Order: sequence, then C-alpha cells, then structure tokens
Amino acid sequence: MCIAQGMTQRLTLRRPDDWHLHLRDGAMMQGVLPESARHFARAIIMPNLVPPVVTAADATAYRDRILAALPKGADFTPLMTLYLTEQTDPADVAAAHASGLIAAVKLYPAGATTNSSSGVTDFDKVRAVLDKMAEIGCPLCVHGEVVDPEVDIFDREAVFIDRVLDPIRKATPGLRVVMEHLTTTDGVQYVRANDKDLAATITTHHLIITRNHILVGGIKPHYYCLPVAKRARHRDALVQAATSGDARFFLGTDSAPHTDPNKECACGCAGIFSATNTLSCLAEVFERAGALDRLEAFTSLNGPAFYGLPANSETITLTRGAPVSYPDRIETGAGPVTVFDPGFALHWQVEGA
Ligand code: DOR
Ligand code: ZN
Repeated sequence: MCIAQGMTQRLTLRRPDDWHLHLRDGAMMQGVLPESARHFARAIIMPNLVPPVVTAADATAYRDRILAALPKGADFTPLMTLYLTEQTDPADVAAAHASGLIAAVKLYPAGATTNSSSGVTDFDKVRAVLDKMAEIGCPLCVHGEVVDPEVDIFDREAVFIDRVLDPIRKATPGLRVVMEHLTTTDGVQYVRANDKDLAATITTHHLIITRNHILVGGIKPHYYCLPVAKRARHRDALVQAATSGDARFFLGTDSAPHTDPNKECACGCAGIFSATNTLSCLAEVFERAGALDRLEAFTSLNGPAFYGLPANSETITLTRGAPVSYPDRIETGAGPVTVFDPGFALHWQVEGA
C-alpha cells in the first residue's frame, strides 16, 4: 500500500523486513539490535559469529540471546540461518527447517569474507545437504564471490556465477537460491534470466556508493564492504533492478557493524552499518529514480513472497521534510560504530521513530 498525497510528502508502507542482517553477539548485539527492531518486523540473521552458528542447537541458543536482548516492547522476529560447512548434517538442517527454527542456510565460500574460514572449499562435500534443501524447499543464501587469488576482487561475483553458482543450480534442480548483496550487472542479468527458484537481495549502500566513494580523495574505510562496491554502471543497474518492482529483487541491508578501531586501521574489517538510517536512504534513492510507488515492493512485499511468508500487516509511514540528521556513530558496549553516510541529504523520516 502506498498512499501518496499531494507532492508525495507521506508514504505509508507495510512494515519492512531485512532479508540480510548481521547482529553479532554480546555487547555489540545489544547496541545494534534496537536500530533494526525500530523499523523492521523481521530479519534474516547471518550466522557468521565466532564460532559460527552451524547446528540447530547453535541457532536455538543464538535466537534466544537475540530475543533476550530486544528492547522492551519491541516487535521483531529474528529469522535464523545455519552456516553451511563441509560437515553439516542434512538431517539437522531438515529438522531445523521443519520445526520453523531456520528460514535458510548460508553458504560462504571459505575465506570470502568476515568470519568465513569455516565455509565451503569443496562444493561436492555439501552436495547431500543441497539435495536435501531442494527436497524440503529450504532456501540457500549465497555469498557469491570466488576466493581464487588470481581473480581480481572486482570480478569475483561474475566469476562465481559461472564457476560455482550456475553449476550448483544445474546439479541441484529445485534448490531455491538467494544471491546475497548483489553488486554487478552480471548478477542482475543472471537473476533476470532465471525466473524460477532464484532471487537476490540488494543492500542500501550498494544502491548508493561506487568504488570511487572508497578510493577517491583518501581511503574511506567506512565504505569498505564485501562484495566491494563496483563502478557506477553496476550501481545504476542495481538501482534499476531494485526500483523496477521485479519480485526477484528485495532488500537485505547487510548492515554489518564493526567498531571504529576495527575499521580505521591498517587491515580494516569489511562491513557497513546502515540499520539506523536505511529507510531514509532508500526513500531518497527511490524518489530520485521516480519510483517511490515501488519502494514497498522492495522493502516489504517481494522478500516475504520469496520466503513463503505473509507480508507484515502493520504499516510504517515516511514523511518528507527538511533534511533529517542521524548520529555519525552509535555507541555500543563493544565500542563506537559509524553509521553509513550516503553523502547526500536525507529528507524522508519514519514517523514516530
Ligand atoms: O562487508 C561485509 N561484512 N560483507 C560480508 O560478507 C560480511 C560482513 C560482516 O560480517 O562484517
Ligand atoms: Zn552479510
């Protein structure tokens, strides 16, 4: 539902969900969780903790820690995932899915990103799990980058599609796959060319930044994430996909907090923290694209449809006015975390938040 009035100063949407979120654990989780729970009804929770969330028992314990850390009165449902390893037991996945504990399984190629060392090196070793997931309809969320040191970091998504993803999908018919945090025209085209069992999340920041944001005028660690932002033509293809209304594209913020000291150092961590201002940023992007009427599909309808869940019945309202300011950083018990800076003024704000 999109109620545009006059010059579209108010926009009412079904309450959004975040189909890709890092909450971490302990003091960091306590600090960042309210930022997501304020606006989002549900989120797919990434399992790349140290150690990772591998078994149903791990996911149950992590879910309970998240629920215990929620601010009083918050209405937020964590949708849990398991971290796929070469030792993952197909029966454990099937039981976790059947009981409703998990919404998906996450595939990290070993070494591709933060805390991915327990991920998959030999894809044949996870074949039985993937076959079971296809059989029971459990989606696979994929970090789609190869780790081959010979492959340039800007090409790793495109090469992953050819070398890994397409072969996996052909070998496992019926496997439902979400390409997470899409960053390239190649990814957009691959999703568009495959209308069954394939979807993609797009982050807020990849709709806004290009590699220039990271590298021009001095190195900007708070724009560094994985997959790394690409050229403008790729960013523009993502905006086109997200604002098109195509049901195969939906929001996964990949909001990924690291403390400022862990970002601002000689070997800074990958990850952009955008939970605080994501909806304001998205409204601005969709407005610029002349597609405010399709924001709700991207944030609130396409994701639940892919995951076979009802859209949220509650709504949120965004209002347009004078530029809104957000804190540069939030303080958490683990340390300060810088909030994503889109580099332009934000005029849309969630009412009552
Ligand atoms: O930038 C990223 N940060 N990309 C990922 O894939 C992981 C994430 C994290 O956990 O920090
Ligand atoms: Zn992520």
